[in-house]
Amino acid sequence: MNILQINASARREGANSTRVANDITARLLAANPGAGLTLRDLAVTPHPMLDEAALGALFTPADQRSAEQAARVALDDALIAQIQAHDTIVLGVPMYNFGVPVQLKSWIDAIARVGVTFRYSASGPEGLLKGKKVYVALARGGMYRDTAADSQVPYLRSVLGFLGMTNVSFIYAEGLAMGPDAVEKGLAQAHADLDAVLG
Ligand SMILES: Cc1cc2nc3c(=O)[nH]c(=O)nc-3n(C[C@H](O)[C@H](O)[C@H](O)COP(=O)(O)O)c2cc1C
Repeated sequence: MNILQINASARREGANSTRVANDITARLLAANPGAGLTLRDLAVTPHPMLDEAALGALFTPADQRSAEQAARVALDDALIAQIQAHDTIVLGVPMYNFGVPVQLKSWIDAIARVGVTFRYSASGPEGLLKGKKVYVALARGGMYRDTAADSQVPYLRSVLGFLGMTNVSFIYAEGLAMGPDAVEKGLAQAHADLDAVLG
């Protein structure tokens, strides 16, 4: 087992999503002594967003790129190589304004590369990041589990599945802003989910 943990909270310290992601990773390491672990904290090293310059670099043939364009594409290449090299992915994901943090969206924009992490064939799209297990630690102020207002889970299922990562388990820490005991209760729920997923 080779674990890649991605922390997507904008907070370096005190993030609930990171706390739950850390718990998932700790359980995996305890059950799989000798497993490798790579940590990428997107608050510490945020990936640049997919802007016009980045698109221009990606759509310029490699042998015609400027040094600046080559450097920009290399940043994405590094994230692709990193996820390719790991078989177990742990994502810490807060809810921000009903969506995923921009830091996570930029990471997803970097790893989604036609011909590399997905391709189209006559029978439709095919994800190329296969054989991975993904655990997603969700942290929310309110309660959205299994409701139409939860846009994060369907989005993450779609995009991860599109890239070939179809084995995804979601761990919910919810209601974290709802009263004095909220964080404790939300984390207890997450631990119950984790018990159910990891046994
Ligand atoms: C900018 C911002 C936007 C948020 N938007 C939502 C939201 O739409 N729904 C929700 O339930 N909680 C929302 N929250 C609460 C967070 O999801 C909650 O505080 C969570 O613990 C944040 O993750 P973190 O602790 O890992 O940083 C928001 C918090 C912030 C700071």
